[in-house]
Parts: sequence; structure tokens; C-alpha cells
Amino acid sequence: MNTLDAIAERRSIRKFKPDPLPEDILQAIINAGIQAPSGKNRQPWRFIIVKEDQRPEMVRILREGIAKIKAEGDDPGSSEYSTNIMELAPVTVFVFNPDGLFPWLAHSIDQNFTELVDTQSIGAAIQNMLLAALDLGIGSLWICDVFYAYEALCDWLGEKGQMIAAISFGYPAENPGARSRKSYNEVARVKG
Ligand SMILES: Cc1cc2nc3c(=O)[nH]c(=O)nc-3n(C[C@H](O)[C@H](O)[C@H](O)COP(=O)(O)O)c2cc1C
Repeated sequence: MNTLDAIAERRSIRKFKPDPLPEDILQAIINAGIQAPSGKNRQPWRFIIVKEDQRPEMVRILREGIAKIKAEGDDPGSSEYSTNIMELAPVTVFVFNPDGLFPWLAHSIDQNFTELVDTQSIGAAIQNMLLAALDLGIGSLWICDVFYAYEALCDWLGEKGQMIAAISFGYPAENPGARSRKSYNEVARVKG
């Protein structure tokens, strides 16, 4: 697939067919992430793959976290909606920065800069995965609503470090049109 076409045609997919993802396709997607550039070639990513058998527990933990937030009178944002999508996606991949600190811990200035670099590297890895998935006929959704159950998910997944995002994958059961974007003139300027 032509790169510019892939960039233009990628969409967030929120409806998936129940068919499982073949293992070779899943590995090809993760390998696309691994090929991303990274600051100092640190490759600060770990991918934790949650398949169908573990999915109910993942969803239970998310719903418990969301219920806690609501009980405290806080707004769970779009997290219930995102959890419903994750419940029906055959695979969800959590991406961690193993060297990152829990977001609510005090950070030194050095740590802040290192995490800024590492988070960019992980963003590049995730975008590689989304584009590779598209090329392989797989739909994807990049999800940060998992932050509503941050600690509980880290514990359950058995990962230390910083949870950066989750990505749900599956064969797409919808074909959404392009979502709006700000124009070039709104976001770019030539320094005069
Ligand atoms: C960092 C990041 C976090 C996101 N988190 C969520 C999420 O938690 N739930 C969700 O439904 N979509 C999430 N999205 C998808 C965005 O809503 C989507 O990319 C945006 O609306 C543009 O639509 P498009 O991806 O189809 O172009 C996220 C995207 C990014 C890049």
C-alpha cells in the first residue's frame, strides 16, 4: 500500500467483527511498531497483548475503575464508550514505557525530558502499527481511556513503568469517512 494513501485512508475503527486475528498478522503489526525510530534508539516500548481469553477480566477492571471514578463524583469522560469497544475487539495491545514513572509521581527535570522523548518514540511505534494494520486489512483504535483504571491495569498486566496507551485491533465492521482536520493555515506558519 502506498504510504500517503495509507495515511489518508486510516480511520479509527470502533466496530469490529468477532473473528480472531491470525497470529502472523498480529506479529506483523507489532513488528511494524518495533521498526519505529526512537530517541537514542532506546526502543522504550513493551507490548502486552490481551486476547479473547483475558478480555473479560480486562473489561471488568476497566468498569471497576470507571465506577470508582463516578462514585467519587468525577467525570469518566468517554471511557465507558471506549470500554464497550474494547469488549468487542478481538485483541487489545497495551503499550508501556518500562523506564517511565507513574504519572502522579514526582519527576526530576531530567526524567521529564527523557519521558518526553520516549513518549514520542512510542507514538511513532503506535502509528506504525495502525498503518501496518490498515495495510493488512485490520482496523484499529488508539485508546487512552484506559487511564481511568491506570493502576489496576498496570497491576493486572504485571508491568512496571508507564502505561502509555492501548490499541484495539480486529477486522473492521464499519467504514467511517474522514474525520475533520484543522487546515494547514490553522496549524502551520512560516516564521517571518
Ligand atoms: C493519543 C490518542 C488517544 C485516543 N484515545 C481514544 C479513546 O480513548 N477512545 C476512542 O474512542 N478514541 C480515541 N482516540 C481516537 C481519536 O478519537 C481519533 O483519532 C480522532 O477522533 C480522529 O479520528 P480518526 O482517527 O478516524 O482520524 C485516540 C487517539 C489518540 C491519538
